[in-house]
Amino acid sequence: MHTKAILYTLFWTLVLGLTGLLLWNSRGYVSDPETVYFFRERIDTSPEVWKSILIPHVMAGMICLLAGPLLFLPLIKNGRVHAGLGILYALSTLGVMLPTGIWLSFYAHGGWIGRLGFLITGSGMFVATILGLWALRDLQIVSHRHWMMRSYALALSALSFRIVYVTGYTLGLSYEVNYPLSTWLSTVINLVVVEIMIRRSATLNPHPHGERPDEKNHIPHTHVSLPVVSVRQ
Ligand code: HEM
Repeated sequence: MHTKAILYTLFWTLVLGLTGLLLWNSRGYVSDPETVYFFRERIDTSPEVWKSILIPHVMAGMICLLAGPLLFLPLIKNGRVHAGLGILYALSTLGVMLPTGIWLSFYAHGGWIGRLGFLITGSGMFVATILGLWALRDLQIVSHRHWMMRSYALALSALSFRIVYVTGYTLGLSYEVNYPLSTWLSTVINLVVVEIMIRRSATLNPHPHGERPDEKNHIPHTHVSLPVVSVRQ
């Protein structure tokens, strides 16, 4: 198998596997939040309203995680379905997950360094999602793809956080160091990976789907290496 195909398969196996794991671990929030350790551990020391902010955050995060693969994997060829899922992704992230996530940041563990990490991740995802939607106004499809890839990469920091945290824990890092470090590292790793993907695709696939630099795609010669569904299809 071609190296690119192997990397692609490994990448999505990891993303889908971790998505499934996080959804499974968070199922208690749907049935009874008191059964979730994270929730029990913090409910007594957090402000009264914290519970009513965390639960919508988790629900919207789950919607975002479910919609992401359907938007980026070439499973859905229909442009209208892609647009519908895109609206769901935008509403769940911009409308609920990010405002609540940013609020929760002020009460997160990890001291001010950890809180700043959450705040930067949330604000970065906010900006990336808005720019991705903004690009659609002028039919800048390539730019739209790239900003939405960055948005999804930042959302996936919820997954990479857990990998980095477990690694730090296994290496014997103290909770005080490991928690804020995982917040920052997960975001930085995801941003580096997504930028590599964007840049690699620019060299491998200069004119995707027949798009020409003189089209309204203001970032010429660029395309994601992942075969995402084009909204033009
Ligand atoms: C798909 C994306 C996301 C999902 C699925 C998700 C899910 C969750 C879950 C399940 C929790 C509770 C922790 C646990 O039970 O282990 C949580 C907490 C939290 N999330 Fe998210 N989240 C996502 C994205 C984000 C983003 C982008 C931010 C950035 C602002 C964020 C900020 C927070 C904060 C600050 C907490 C509380 C952490 C603490 O108190 O230490 N989340 N999230």
